[in-house]
Amino acid sequence: MQISGSIALVTGAGRGLGRAYASELVRRGAAKVYGAARNPAAVTEPGVVAVQLDITEPGQVSLAAEQCADVTLLVNNAGVMKASTFIDAPNLDAARLEMETNYFGTLTMCRAFAPVLAANGGGAIVNMLSVTSFYTNPFDASYGASKAAALSLTNGIRVELAHCGTLVVAVHASFIDTEMAAAAIAPKISPESVAKQVFDAVEAGQIEVLADERSRFVKASLSRDHELIYPPIQEFWDSAINAS
Ligand SMILES: NC(=O)c1ccc[n+]([C@@H]2O[C@H](COP(=O)([O-])OP(=O)(O)OC[C@H]3O[C@@H](n4cnc5c(N)ncnc54)[C@H](OP(=O)(O)O)[C@@H]3O)[C@@H](O)[C@H]2O)c1
Repeated sequence: MQISGSIALVTGAGRGLGRAYASELVRRGAAKVYGAARNPAAVTEPGVVAVQLDITEPGQVSLAAEQCADVTLLVNNAGVMKASTFIDAPNLDAARLEMETNYFGTLTMCRAFAPVLAANGGGAIVNMLSVTSFYTNPFDASYGASKAAALSLTNGIRVELAHCGTLVVAVHASFIDTEMAAAAIAPKISPESVAKQVFDAVEAGQIEVLADERSRFVKASLSRDHELIYPPIQEFWDSAINAS
């Protein structure tokens, strides 16, 4: 599908990658861009229509699907990352919040907007995942679990919605230069670069975006993950434990 003339809704549009998605959509000539955010006052990009939306509140999601019944492109960008381990986290609060937002929130959005997209000709859903959808890193372990669940969701709805003509795009990236990755001392891709790659993919009908070198390496290494992916992670984890 073409971005020009489309009607898009971006979740988490008040800052970070969501803001970059919204502004790239405007730049490419989308006919309307809804910027959904828990605090709509944070949506200040020119040409973006603010919509109040917490994706973990089913009532708000249903209302947004009613109010934005003209949407042809849904960008599920909103997410949380609490940098929480599986074993040493004090409780399951972070794991539950990540699963509630990144998996159940995204699922609720897909369920509410799938009929809207179908009624408007099929359109597309973009799900913002992570390189950690593919493997587990103990530093953000429960986040990875929630993004793996969201990858499973993404692959499943692609099959379920094919008959409606809905393109379903999975986006993977390692570190993106936003608040979420502020503490990471590592190469970071810009949110603008992710947004450009994603909408190029939507226009080309591609189902997957591997937005940076790390994502491409991990995807290419999955059949040998215990040789290529996990040993360096184990080494890094052991050195962090020894240093603490
Ligand atoms: N940054 C990275 O390194 C990186 C890498 C790979 C994937 N990602 C993914 O990219 C997406 C965007 O993250 P970001 O880097 O832009 O992080 P960010 O700067 O922390 O922004 C997160 C966004 O999600 C919104 N959000 C969180 N919970 C929400 C909820 N319940 N309902 C509605 N909106 C909610 C936040 O809104 P508020 O302003 O209201 O908090 C904010 O707009 C996320 O899905 C993230 O997992 C990020």
